[in-house]
Amino acid sequence: MSKIRLEATAIDLRFDESILEQVQQAHDYLHQNGGSAGHGFLGWIDPPAESGELAEELLGAAAYIRGKADVLLVIGIGGSYAGGRAGIEMLTHPFRNQLPPEQRNGPEIYFLGQNLSASYIKGLLSILEDRDVIVNVISKSGTTTETAIAFRIVLGWMHNKYGAKETARRIIATTDRSKGNLRRISEAGDYRTFDIPEDVAGRYSVLTPVGLLPMAVAGIDIQSMLRGARDARDQYSTCDLTQNICYQYAVARNKLLNQGKLIEILVSYEPGMALFAEWWKQLFGESEGKDGKGIFPASVQFTTDLHSIGQYVQQGPRHLFETILWVEDAHCNVELPELAGDPDELNYLAGKTLNFVNEQAFFGALQAHTEGDVPNLVLRIPRLDAQHVGHLFYFFEKACALSGYLLGVNPFDQPGVEMSKRNMFKLLGKSGSTL
Ligand code: PA5
Repeated sequence: MSKIRLEATAIDLRFDESILEQVQQAHDYLHQNGGSAGHGFLGWIDPPAESGELAEELLGAAAYIRGKADVLLVIGIGGSYAGGRAGIEMLTHPFRNQLPPEQRNGPEIYFLGQNLSASYIKGLLSILEDRDVIVNVISKSGTTTETAIAFRIVLGWMHNKYGAKETARRIIATTDRSKGNLRRISEAGDYRTFDIPEDVAGRYSVLTPVGLLPMAVAGIDIQSMLRGARDARDQYSTCDLTQNICYQYAVARNKLLNQGKLIEILVSYEPGMALFAEWWKQLFGESEGKDGKGIFPASVQFTTDLHSIGQYVQQGPRHLFETILWVEDAHCNVELPELAGDPDELNYLAGKTLNFVNEQAFFGALQAHTEGDVPNLVLRIPRLDAQHVGHLFYFFEKACALSGYLLGVNPFDQPGVEMSKRNMFKLLGKSGSTL
């Protein structure tokens, strides 16, 4: 696998002695699994083996779903949603659900439980009336309101459609090994289950059954993905900052924060990476935004947003920096044709490719933003395949964990999120929850 590279413009990547000591301490927290807040949540550090028992089981379940269903409905929110969808959108056809079955590679995949919109769920169920459906409901706690409500509605719909016995064969629950409502419901309903490891927080769980099962159903080579993640684990297990670009990234963003750069914008030039940016925002926002600290994680899609937010980036307050995900081999290309008479004055580009034009847009924006005093980090990704995407998931998980420790917060808890969840329970009148 060719390596991911990190480059910086207008950022001094030299690091002083004091930061090296802090990196060593954060590294020890992560690798010695002790002494730190959140030390019980380091299960993601060792991704599952690509040819281990879990991978085999997931592939077996994926084959069952692919053989039986027209549609996989994935129900979940936050860390129990974003990573799997990000992987699918990055690695499959941009209009996958619209493809004819023989070209699609697996069932159509839809997501619900990420909102409380009646029109969304009603609209979705209405297009599934005459389709064969299998459900993967995902919740670590088993009590998250959006997921639980969507699942209850879908369960009733499935019972009407298939009856209780067949419904049980069509539900797969991904949840805690022993605790929570979803575990209890699964046992009572005799559903097939996959465990979410207790020592993996939701937003670090993409490389567990949470993300891997939906991705395997979409035909993604999850064994390659795990290989990529394990390569990343090996590559980023050194504390030597000169060798570890994952740590360089974490340190650079903390250095920028100390210089008043309060916002980090993740930039990509491929629409298929939009959900990856959502996953990244959740990872960093939920891990670092606490105790009055943290960088605000934002994202843009270029070139689309060069025509909107690009103005703010270029000339708004200078409190932001960009991290660009640049894919070097875009795996498909389109050549611009010559047009007689040149009515649109584009013949100067005839014979050039869209990737070439996209790259010039990248260079142009990079230069303009650098001149506009926006520091830039560029992560050069050789190509978007399962192995590199696995590597990328791991890269950001580890960078986020290290970065959180450098910031002095616990990167594995989410007291603010829990507060909203509790308030919602109270306001809805859940028994045992008082205002
Ligand atoms: O990262 C987290 O812990 C959260 O974003 C959770 O993933 C999210 O709230 C969903 O929780 P659960 O899986 O318990 O339904």
